[in-house]
Amino acid sequence: MLLTVTVLLMLIPSTCGKNPAVQVTLTDKGLQYGKHAGTDWFQDHLGNVTFPDISGGIKIKIFGTIDYALTGIKIIKCDLPEPSVDFYPDATGFKTSMSGLSIALNGEWRTHYGIIHDGGTFDMAVFDVSVLSVVELGKDDDGHLSISSVSCEAKVGDVNIVFQGGGSWIFQPFVHHFTGRIGREIQSRICPNVEQIIVTLEHHLQAMNVSFDVDQALSLDLSLTDLPVIDASKLNLGFKGEFYSIKSHTDPPFEAQPFTIPEQQGYMLAMGLSEYTLNSASYGYYSSGGFQAFINDSMIPPGCPVHLNTSLMGPFIPQLPKMFPGLLMYLQVYAIKAPMLSFHSDAIKLGVQANVKAFAIQPNGTETPLFKLGVDSQFNSKVWIDGQKVKGSVSMNNFTLTLVGSEVGEFETDPLERLAKLGVNLALTKVNVKMGKGFDLPRMKHSQLVNSVLKMQEGFIALFSDAEVL
Ligand SMILES: *[C@@H]1O[C@H](CO)[C@@H](O)[C@H](O)[C@H]1NC(C)=O
Ligand SMILES: *[C@@H]1O[C@H](CO)[C@@H](O)[C@H](O)[C@H]1NC(C)=O
Ligand SMILES: *[C@@H]1O[C@H](CO)[C@@H](O)[C@H](O)[C@H]1NC(C)=O
Ligand SMILES: *[C@@H]1O[C@H](CO)[C@@H](O)[C@H](O)[C@H]1NC(C)=O
Ligand SMILES: *[C@@H]1O[C@H](CO)[C@@H](O)[C@H](O)[C@H]1NC(C)=O
Ligand SMILES: *[C@@H]1O[C@H](CO)[C@@H](O)[C@H](O)[C@H]1NC(C)=O
Repeated sequence: MLLTVTVLLMLIPSTCGKNPAVQVTLTDKGLQYGKHAGTDWFQDHLGNVTFPDISGGIKIKIFGTIDYALTGIKIIKCDLPEPSVDFYPDATGFKTSMSGLSIALNGEWRTHYGIIHDGGTFDMAVFDVSVLSVVELGKDDDGHLSISSVSCEAKVGDVNIVFQGGGSWIFQPFVHHFTGRIGREIQSRICPNVEQIIVTLEHHLQAMNVSFDVDQALSLDLSLTDLPVIDASKLNLGFKGEFYSIKSHTDPPFEAQPFTIPEQQGYMLAMGLSEYTLNSASYGYYSSGGFQAFINDSMIPPGCPVHLNTSLMGPFIPQLPKMFPGLLMYLQVYAIKAPMLSFHSDAIKLGVQANVKAFAIQPNGTETPLFKLGVDSQFNSKVWIDGQKVKGSVSMNNFTLTLVGSEVGEFETDPLERLAKLGVNLALTKVNVKMGKGFDLPRMKHSQLVNSVLKMQEGFIALFSDAEVL
């Protein structure tokens, strides 16, 4: 038993103790903006709230018990004061309070007194409603964010009712007998309703996917790694942020390093993305057989002075035109390990190690291997945000070719290296035109990021931003 527990305890850190590779911080500015937008939304949708019927019996001295029912209750007007919402570290959640809410309602009344049935309409005003709710955030076993109600208190200040139609003039004088009771009735229904909203929210959170297929090869795991962390000024969520190959589903042979998003005043949100996330994508592609390419002569632009034709290879491999004259060639390019990125405060560095195998295509279709080259290359990249776009640039830092094997004898690789560098630089020019035009910041259905800045850091990249509800 003790052994089992010990073994389990030893397993826990390795399965649950992963560092988050994606972090999201919500600041108080963001919370207040979200609350404001939420209040507007709620105000717009309050008209759709349906009230349950209220019924009961009222004892009136001279008459005895009158059974009553208030039905079809609808909100006519509601002055929703802006609630206050704050981070509440005591409960790892939020504390919401609202006071001074007044609601005007109308509906139909029916009374039943002995054999006398009567009915009409009523106008009701409920004054000075206050609600105090505390919710707790957590994480379930699958890494979903969870929310639950910790406490709720509701108070109704005063209720006034004016009855119309039927014999309303008979019991309107006794309205004070109704109001206290109806006030308590309304009061007792507020918190169950608040709790129902929280339960509905929790169902939505549970139904959300924490893993997304990005394409046929890769899936992104965005489950929470830890409980949410809350202090008086912010909420921090840590997500796994790992891409993995759908086919093999193996973790990469490296781990996410811990990082802390630096403080930056004045923004609603901060996000941190570890180099781990991108490297796990690279590893996922690599282990599912990505990073391979075949290059044949029809892919080389017609105007290009160099073609994949053995007769034109003389300047680079002098013996080749003599050994295999007039044959088309093709190249097989493949990474020999997953390309790795590293984030630094001045640049993103990308290292690519690949092999290039060259073949000659015989007239009868047979492919004759010619030689194999090793490529070791390093690129530097910068990314920044310009308005609503992420822009960037890439440059080649280092590029070396080495001869790994040859069926056509030794040759100097320097001329080929110069040619390849030229080709890579040409390709980078095109990439830079694209990156210079930029890519739109990710947009959600009902909101977008504004005033965003990117900050490069050692090992991660931080995004500070405001959000705008559309
Ligand atoms: C609220 O009611 C209005 C009209 O009464 C309707 O158009 C709208 O779709 C309703 N909204 C919801 C969320 O039910
Ligand atoms: C959640 O993931 C499942 C399986 O990948 C998919 O079928 C479903 O459409 C996803 N749901 C949402 C809301 O993205
Ligand atoms: C070159 O490759 C492309 C794409 O794989 C293919 O469509 C084309 O037929 C190939 N050309 C030659 C000459 O083999
Ligand atoms: C290769 O280049 C030589 C010399 O320009 C040319 O004669 C030959 O037709 C080319 N071979 C093919 C298959 O295009
Ligand atoms: C194709 O031609 C090459 C060179 O002429 C020859 O070595 C090879 O045996 C031939 N292959 C077939 C299958 O005919
Ligand atoms: C480029 O790579 C070669 C071989 O790996 C290395 O010797 C050289 O120092 C590198 N140059 C730069 C500028 O990184």
